[in-house]
Amino acid sequence: MNKIVIAIDGYSGCGKSSTAKAVAKKLGYTYIDSGAMYRSATLHFLNHSVDIYNEQQVIDSLKQLIISFQINPASGLQETYLNGQNVESDIRNMRVSNYVSEVSTIKAVREALVAQQQALGQKKGVVMDGRDIGTVVFPHAELKVFMTANLEVRARRRQQELAEKGQEVPLQDIINNLADRDKTDSTRKESPLMKAEDAVEIDTSHLRFEEQVDKIVQLAHETMSNN
Ligand code: DC
Repeated sequence: MNKIVIAIDGYSGCGKSSTAKAVAKKLGYTYIDSGAMYRSATLHFLNHSVDIYNEQQVIDSLKQLIISFQINPASGLQETYLNGQNVESDIRNMRVSNYVSEVSTIKAVREALVAQQQALGQKKGVVMDGRDIGTVVFPHAELKVFMTANLEVRARRRQQELAEKGQEVPLQDIINNLADRDKTDSTRKESPLMKAEDAVEIDTSHLRFEEQVDKIVQLAHETMSNN
């Protein structure tokens, strides 16, 4: 069966990443977390005190940015590396979370990361999740999914995820962060978050994790057999 590109977009905290990861595993596909790339760029700018309002500084700094996804020998999991260093945990902290939406409005950042994402998906057989995957990165993806869930459900899930990593964050802080990011992501000028016309919408508020994964895997099989 021909391999396809599966684009999964949606609001922050809908469970896109864990769903996309599980779908990729079931299909034997490569999972690419595009949000981790925006987070890595954000961490890089913070670590190097880059003034994100200074275009030249941003462009110069982007040239020093190498993001890769590798299996961490200690955990056996695919994790994010920035210039050779494992940053999987650092890119999820609240400092990065509070700044990343702003960084992702910058045109030069988007252009650099979209080019890398397109290169990573060139051979197909990938599941990529983000905000603009079905609209900008892979407008011809064979399968596009748009995931939604209500704000409080999303915040509780994110709180649980952070708690599992040892970070205790009050629910209200997470609600505020998600609401702010929803607004910035959907109203920004460059590639705003929106559902592609041909995307299948899945509201996960009342779905169990396995149900949402199975639904997408089933859609993928249907798409592959029609290709
Ligand atoms: O999926 P995430 O929450 O890890 O994404 C972090 C931020 O990156 C999110 O606030 C918006 C931005 N992002 C983006 O603009 N485009 C993407 N394709 C993926 C993420």
